[in-house]
Amino acid sequence: MNILRRNRRLRVNETIRALVRETTITPNDFIVPLFVVEGLGIRAEIPSMPNYYRYSLDYLAQEVKELWSLGIKSVLLFVKVPDHLKDNEGTEAINPDGLMQRAIKTVKEATPDMLVMTDVALDPYSIYGHDGIIKNGVVENDTTVSILAQMSLSHVRAGADWVAPSDMMDGRIEQIRLFLDKYNYTNAGIMAYSAKYASALYGPFRDALDSAPVDEQDIPKDKKTYQMDYANRLEAIKEVIMDVEEGADMVMVKPGIVYLDVVREVKNAVNVPVSVYQVSGEYAMIKAAAQNGWLDHDAIMLEQIYAIKRAGADLIASYFAKDVVKLL
Ligand code: PBG
Repeated sequence: MNILRRNRRLRVNETIRALVRETTITPNDFIVPLFVVEGLGIRAEIPSMPNYYRYSLDYLAQEVKELWSLGIKSVLLFVKVPDHLKDNEGTEAINPDGLMQRAIKTVKEATPDMLVMTDVALDPYSIYGHDGIIKNGVVENDTTVSILAQMSLSHVRAGADWVAPSDMMDGRIEQIRLFLDKYNYTNAGIMAYSAKYASALYGPFRDALDSAPVDEQDIPKDKKTYQMDYANRLEAIKEVIMDVEEGADMVMVKPGIVYLDVVREVKNAVNVPVSVYQVSGEYAMIKAAAQNGWLDHDAIMLEQIYAIKRAGADLIASYFAKDVVKLL
């Protein structure tokens, strides 16, 4: 057969494949989400997230040291708030001695150069499991934004390098930016969860933090009045562009794998780094299939991480970060 161009020459063996590979993964690609609980000596596996744990502060210190030794440079902190500290207004969120504030200090003490990001939203603090304050059956935008700005300041005061508002309220990026600047925290960064969809893939995360919306009369059953409709694509572009205009240093698309069309469009639309959150349900699906012997765990994990990066992610928040880095 006369064929001048044979594409398979570029795939003959692993050497040539490595030389022409378009996408690479390094430890610098990752943000590691970490779940923190009160107590001592606690390293509790999350049932719907096999091999993923909630850590008390002592174990948190150990974990971040290990991450740092692997070359991982960024963590994203979440706290499981004891029930008796929850209310509708998220009062505990701005307690200078709250679990989040102590967790930030713990990480900074253990690994001073680790970039510490914190989740900013009221759901772990809310008796109703919503990201904002509820009034007359509705998640109120503006009062919520005001507490989110205070929460952000409180995290930065405790030593957080970046805040990551995950609430999807309108105007929160601008208000957080102005509030941080007013107190001279001009170097504190904002990673906006800009295109965050109302996804069923957050289930295991809500188990981990006991933060699911409650099933009570006059309380919204889901987060669809603030998180995005998964049928929409253009809306994601609007959200990221507005967040960049409001001062976001980085934007995020979430979840990951089933939203890679959005990731690519967002990457093409903005000139700030784009992060992608491979969420708890994505992790759980891979774990479950692997446990059943239906999929090859490491192969599918790497394939999905590469796909997220190929789609346009500059950074990936992933529960697989440590496993991937160990495999590299
Ligand atoms: C809090 C928050 C959620 C996640 C990140 N921040 C849950 C939610 O919005 O309900 C989900 C992360 C995951 O599923 O891994 N607002």
